[in-house]
Amino acid sequence: MFQDKSVVITGASSGLGAALGLELARAGARVALFSPESERLKEVAERCAEAGAQALAVIGDVTLPDDCRRLMQETVAEFGGIDYLIANAGISMWAKFEDVEDLGVFRKLMEVNYQGAVNCAYHALPHLKQRRGMLVAITSIQSKIGVPLHTGYVASKHALQGFCESLRMELDLDGAGVDILTVLPHWLRGTELREHALSKEGKELGTSSRKHSSESVSVEDACKAILKAMRKRKRELVIPWKLKFLLGLNLIRPQLAESIVTGKVRHQDRR
Ligand SMILES: NC(=O)c1ccc[n+]([C@@H]2O[C@H](COP(=O)([O-])OP(=O)(O)OC[C@H]3O[C@@H](n4cnc5c(N)ncnc54)[C@H](OP(=O)(O)O)[C@@H]3O)[C@@H](O)[C@H]2O)c1
Repeated sequence: MFQDKSVVITGASSGLGAALGLELARAGARVALFSPESERLKEVAERCAEAGAQALAVIGDVTLPDDCRRLMQETVAEFGGIDYLIANAGISMWAKFEDVEDLGVFRKLMEVNYQGAVNCAYHALPHLKQRRGMLVAITSIQSKIGVPLHTGYVASKHALQGFCESLRMELDLDGAGVDILTVLPHWLRGTELREHALSKEGKELGTSSRKHSSESVSVEDACKAILKAMRKRKRELVIPWKLKFLLGLNLIRPQLAESIVTGKVRHQDRR
C-alpha cells in the first residue's frame, strides 16, 4: 500500500512525526521529513534510510510559506510527486489564560498549529491532486472539546479541524480525488510536546514533573492506528477510539463532559 509512495511529514524530528516517518519507511514509502532543527531531523532520516527507505531531510519552519513551498518542490524533485502530506508539526501550552504574561503565546500557537498546516496544505494540494492523494492533519481530541490551561492550543486545533472539514467539502465538490483524514489523539506517550509547551511567560516549560495520564497512548500504537486509517482512507480517527463517547457526550450533555475533562486536568496539574 505504501510501497514507493511519497509522503511529506512536518514536525518529523521527534515524537509522533519521527515515529510516523520510521513506520512509513518500514512500509516501503519514500519520506520527506521537515522541521526547523537539522541535527535530529538528519538522525531520523538516517534511521529511515537504514530501514531501506529513500529519506529526504528538509530544514524549515511551517510558519514560513516560502519554506513550505520549498519543501514540496524538493520532495517533487526527489520523489516525482506527493501522495500524502502529514501535517503534524505542533506546539502546546500549559497556563491559565489570566496568568499569561505574553500574548504572543496565542499568536505563536495559531501560527504553528493552524497557519503552518494551512501553508503546507496550500503548497502540497496541486501535487496531491495529481496523485489523488491524501492530507492527514494531526489535530487533537482538543479540536472538538475545550480543555482548561490549554486555551490557545484548543483554539488553534479547533481552527485546523474546521479548515479541514471545509476543505474536504470543497475537494469533494470538485471531484478532486484528494481525501482528508483528521487525527484526534488524546495524550500520547513518547513525544516532547510537554517539554516544548509554552508557559505563561511564553517560554518552553522544559522537563515536567507531571506524569502522563494512565489513559495515554504510546506513540507506536498511535502510528499503527494512523497508518491503518490512511490505508482505509478514513475521514476521522480518534485515538483511543473510546474517546468518541466523550465527544458524543459533549454534544448531548456538555456540562457533564466539561466536568470530566476539568477533573482530569486538575488531577494532572496537582502531580
Ligand atoms: N503528545 C500529545 O499528547 C498529543 C496529543 C494530541 C495531539 N498531538 C499533536 O501531535 C503533533 C505532534 O506532536 P508531538 O506530540 O509529537 O510533539 P513533539 O515531540 O514536540 O513534536 C513536535 C514536532 O513539531 C516540530 N515543530 C515545532 N514547531 C515547528 C515549526 N514552526 N515548523 C516545523 N516544525 C515544527 C518540532 O520540531 P523541532 O523540535 O525541531 O522544533 C517537532 O518535530 C502536534 O500537532 C500535536 O499537537 C500531540
